[in-house]
Amino acid sequence: MRRNILITGASSGLGAEMARQFAAKGHNLVLTARREDKLQALREELTERHPDLTVVVHRLDVNDHEQVFEVFRKADAELTLDRIIVNAGLGKGAPLGTGRFDANLQTAMTNFVGALAQAEAALELFRARNAGHLVFISSVSALRGLPKTVTTYAATKAGLASLAEGLRLELLNKPIKVSTIFPGYIRSEMNEHVANTPLIVDTVPGVRAMVAAIEAEKATAYVPPWPWIPLARVMRYAPLPLLKRMI
Ligand SMILES: NC(=O)c1ccc[n+]([C@@H]2O[C@H](COP(=O)([O-])OP(=O)(O)OC[C@H]3O[C@@H](n4cnc5c(N)ncnc54)[C@H](OP(=O)(O)O)[C@@H]3O)[C@@H](O)[C@H]2O)c1
Repeated sequence: MRRNILITGASSGLGAEMARQFAAKGHNLVLTARREDKLQALREELTERHPDLTVVVHRLDVNDHEQVFEVFRKADAELTLDRIIVNAGLGKGAPLGTGRFDANLQTAMTNFVGALAQAEAALELFRARNAGHLVFISSVSALRGLPKTVTTYAATKAGLASLAEGLRLELLNKPIKVSTIFPGYIRSEMNEHVANTPLIVDTVPGVRAMVAAIEAEKATAYVPPWPWIPLARVMRYAPLPLLKRMI
């Protein structure tokens, strides 16, 4: 069992709910994000519910790359990390060329460069002991280029999936495992203002599917499996006019 898990972006949404569900399965946790008050509240909730578990929290901005290495090393010294989940992410964005380079840059830096820093810091620990499970939270939006407000977001998530696949290829048949999770639409702070769509699922069942895929150490997983396994296939191969009608 991967007993000790570090999750970035654990102050809300999918990260916080993954923490709840992994705690319920008996995992010790290191939880990181920028909003320390939310992390502390989650820590109190989890330790009250599971007094036998160790739950450590650390403030971490994944855009402060030095801090990423420092926090991961410190966390590993406190609680030898068996699994690291690269989850912190941002959904900001605007159509390219409309004066919002700032928003697109922030998304690119957080979702891709921040994730690269996390992967570097995680693998430094895992390579030293030739063990560990590195998990990337990508998105079904990684499957194709997407228009307007999600162009940059989708590109960062495709970049993340490519980074993960490169590592998986390098580490094939070795003890260090790498998973890419492609969530569909799951309720969180990121999409709380998005109108109800038939495809969005509540946080708890959505994260249950994520946790099951992570625990099974799948190389890749579309979650929840229905409708995203078949839809992913359609998205992947749809010609542009069909893709435009789908989104
Ligand atoms: N919800 C979905 O439908 C969906 C679908 C596909 C993929 N995802 C991915 O799932 C992950 C979690 O998103 P969510 O839906 O749970 O959204 P969320 O509720 O907005 O959570 C995002 C988390 O990322 C953290 N974060 C953002 N910028 C950060 C930074 N610079 N440094 C450290 N932490 C940062 C936030 O914490 P602080 O603000 O406290 O730092 C928060 O804990 C993201 O990577 C997202 O792209 C979500």
